[in-house]
Amino acid sequence: MFSSSILAVAALFLIVSFLRQSLSSPLNRLPGPWFAKYTSLVLKWHEFRAQRTRYVHSLHLEYGPAVRIAPNEAAFASATAVKEIYCSGGSGYDKTEFYGLFKVYGRRTMFTTLNKEDHARRKRMLADRYANTNVVREPSLNGISERATRFIRRCCESSDGVVDLFVNLHSYAFDCVTHHLFHPYGADSLQSVKDEEIMREVAFDDSLQNRLLDYYNPTLHKLVGKFLYVFAKPRETPLADDFVLGSSAATDPAPFTLLDRLNGQKLDHLDIAAECLDHMAAGIDTTGDGLCFLMWELSQSASAGHQQRLRDELLANPGAPFDKLPFLDAIVMEGLRCFPPIPMSLPRYVPRGGREIDGFFLPEGTIVSSQAYSVHRIDTTAFPGPDVFRPERWLDQEGDAERRRLFFAFANGGRGCIGKHLALAEMKMLLRAVYSQFKTVPDVGMAHSDMEMSDQLISSRPLGQKCLLRFVPLGSGSSS
Ligand code: HEM
Repeated sequence: MFSSSILAVAALFLIVSFLRQSLSSPLNRLPGPWFAKYTSLVLKWHEFRAQRTRYVHSLHLEYGPAVRIAPNEAAFASATAVKEIYCSGGSGYDKTEFYGLFKVYGRRTMFTTLNKEDHARRKRMLADRYANTNVVREPSLNGISERATRFIRRCCESSDGVVDLFVNLHSYAFDCVTHHLFHPYGADSLQSVKDEEIMREVAFDDSLQNRLLDYYNPTLHKLVGKFLYVFAKPRETPLADDFVLGSSAATDPAPFTLLDRLNGQKLDHLDIAAECLDHMAAGIDTTGDGLCFLMWELSQSASAGHQQRLRDELLANPGAPFDKLPFLDAIVMEGLRCFPPIPMSLPRYVPRGGREIDGFFLPEGTIVSSQAYSVHRIDTTAFPGPDVFRPERWLDQEGDAERRRLFFAFANGGRGCIGKHLALAEMKMLLRAVYSQFKTVPDVGMAHSDMEMSDQLISSRPLGQKCLLRFVPLGSGSSS
């Protein structure tokens, strides 16, 4: 009797302090659903269902560009918020522990360092390898061009003209990024079945739920580890791990490669391998899925005019450098705007002393983020008809600066994508190779639901994990 009274008083005390804390939080001024004040379970539920991006976007549509999404978490979708969170002081606010999920070989890499100082130190070691001047050097560019040619060869080998872009574009991205990391020790998955296996291990990973549980509740994850394996696989990439450990041990890589730069630093082999594996993973799904969503969109009948205009530009300028073709550039920008390969929140902590973002004061330690999917859609003055794929909008001088201020596919500031120039070169060179020789249309084996966005831990891929397109050679009668 006595002990149950103590329990009841303790429970009442806990409930009252929880309510007091919830009701007095400075975050209460932010708009958002009522339950976000009390629990993050709804947000987590959508994360576990691979639909975090769409859920957060639906909250932006309902409540505006600033929204509370959990007791200690807020999302923002304006250019001013992006500038504050990701660019203030150069590289913005510090990353949260979420990035610990991406540690490789147990080491922290540039991407997974949490504070500015560690990040800046690592970035200084390697940034020059991703400068545009290094990417457009002949040995680097020739490598991309060769891989685009191999991609076309793979397309031509298909007896019925149907190509699974999901597989082949991931192979292309894998071969290109490892060329930049390790040449001549890169992968050749467009020609070698053994290397294709490595790519498949990375691209078809299904560890989202397992890794989320490990992050949110490591104790529960340990307890149910074996049982969990049945429906939520852990991330296991032994082939990729071995490939990178082997390639990164080379002492004579080409001078333009990342490995060449890292070999000259005070890093042990495991640190070098971890950094390289991280960049390899960062460069496969992003470029592969970005191209995949874009080419699917270009193949729809509503995009026939865009495909034709692109083809006209390419055929009229066969010798032009890939980065001097305005409509090709507009196509890539619009593809990355509509289908950003990393569409979701990039979480950061509000620094000591708290900060004001878009008129709302946020205490230190609050998790804040922006997601490209929403930043690219919420401002309908900058992007009228935001869900419509309309490359021409990038050719219009009026409003150009504002559109570019809102472009967040590669994030922004000092922690934005270091591989941006490499990715753009890969995307443009592949599109040029394809659309100067083929017209593409969807295969009948595809349903639109196959191409729905399915969130992974940080990037997003087509739900069906396939993208069947029919490649029709130009001049074969069915194209101009
Ligand atoms: C279309 C292709 C790509 C897109 C859309 C993209 C997007 C992004 C984004 C949004 C970030 C910031 C992530 C965050 O703050 O959590 C990022 C970081 C990064 N990306 Fe990319 N990426 C692409 C291709 C590549 C490629 C080809 C590489 C090649 C190595 C690469 C390497 C990296 C690295 C190393 C970082 C971490 C940078 C840092 O922490 O300073 N990315 N990328």
